Amino acid sequence: MSTLEQALTALRAGEAIGLPTETVYGLAADASRPEAVRKIFALKGRPADHPLIVHVAGADALDAWARDVPDAARGLAARFWPGPLTLILRKQPRVPDEVTGGQATVGLRCPAHPVALELLRAFGGGLAAPSANRFGRISPTTAAHVREEFGAAVPVVLDGGECEVGIESTILDLSGAAPRILRPGRISRAELEAVIGPVEAGADAHSPRASGTLEAHYAPRTPLLMLARTALEHEALEQQALGKRVAVLALGTLPQGVDGLALPADATGYAHGLYAGLRELDARGVNLLLAERPPEGEAWLAVHDRLRRSAAGAGLPDDAP
Ligand code: TXA
Ligand code: MG
Repeated sequence: MSTLEQALTALRAGEAIGLPTETVYGLAADASRPEAVRKIFALKGRPADHPLIVHVAGADALDAWARDVPDAARGLAARFWPGPLTLILRKQPRVPDEVTGGQATVGLRCPAHPVALELLRAFGGGLAAPSANRFGRISPTTAAHVREEFGAAVPVVLDGGECEVGIESTILDLSGAAPRILRPGRISRAELEAVIGPVEAGADAHSPRASGTLEAHYAPRTPLLMLARTALEHEALEQQALGKRVAVLALGTLPQGVDGLALPADATGYAHGLYAGLRELDARGVNLLLAERPPEGEAWLAVHDRLRRSAAGAGLPDDAP
C-alpha cells in the first residue's frame, strides 16, 4: 500500500493522520465524523471548545460546509485558494459541533500543498486539522516534528518535506458585520483589502475563541526573551558570565561569542525557519533562549505575533494552559 492509500484507509477508519500543508503540518481526521474529530482533541490535549479548521479540495466545497456565503468569500477563495487563508463563515447545520466548538461558524481552507490536495481529492470530504503539535507547543514544519510530538499514537504521517510558509494561515472572519483578521499570516491585510476593500484586524469582544489568539502559545520549554540586537548581545554575555547557558535566535548573522542560529533577515525566509529554529534551540537544553527582535512593519506582523506568544508561554510546564 502506498502511504497515500494508508492515509485514506486510516481516515476512512476514523483515525487521525499527519498531513503536510504549505503552512505547518496538520493532524487531520474526517470532519464529518464527531468520533474521528474527538480523537484529534484527545491526541493534542486541546480544550474541546477550541474550533478546528476544515480543509477542503477547493472553492467548490464552500457551500457544502458554509451557508449564506458572501461574495467576498468567493472572491477571496478565487484569488488565494489553494493557499494560506482560512475563511470563517456561517456553518451548515451538518458541520459537527466537535469541529466548531459549538459555535455557529466554521473555518474553511484549501491548502496549497500537492500531497494535501491529492489526499483531499481522493478522500472527497473535508478534513478537520489543527496544527500537529500538542496544545500550546511549537507547530511542526516537518514530518519528523510530527513524529516527535505524537510517536506511535499517530502511525500514519504523510511526508511532504519542509513546509514552505512555516507559520499558520491568515484567519479572516467573514461572519460578522465587517471582515476581520483574527490571526495574521503570510497573506497580508493589504492583499485582502485589494480584493474586498477595508478589513479590520485583531479580535474584538464578539470574536470567537481561537487558540492561535491565546496569549501563550507556540511555546518552547526553555524560557525565551525577545530583545533588540544590542541589548541581546549584552544579555547573552552577561548570562554567560553568570554561568548560564544561552542560545540566540538571531536575524541575518549570529553575534560574536554566542551560540545559537541565525534566520534570514527577510520576513518570508524568517517565517519559513522560525518554528524549526525554535525547536532546535529548545532541544539544546540551555537555560535561556534569546530571540532578536525582528523589524516592525506589515511584512513582519505575523512573525511578531508568533514570537510574542511563544515568549509568553515559554518555560511553562507541559500541562500549563
Ligand atoms: O495554517 C493553518 O491554518 C494550519 C494548517 C494545518 O492548516 N492549521 C492551524 O490550525 O493552524 P489550528 O487549529 O492550530 O489553528 C486554527 C485556528 C484556531 O485558532 C481556531 O480557534 C481557529 O483557527 N478557528 C477555527 N475555526 C474557527 C471558527 N469557527 N471561528 C473562529 N476561529 C476558528
Ligand atoms: Mg495550532
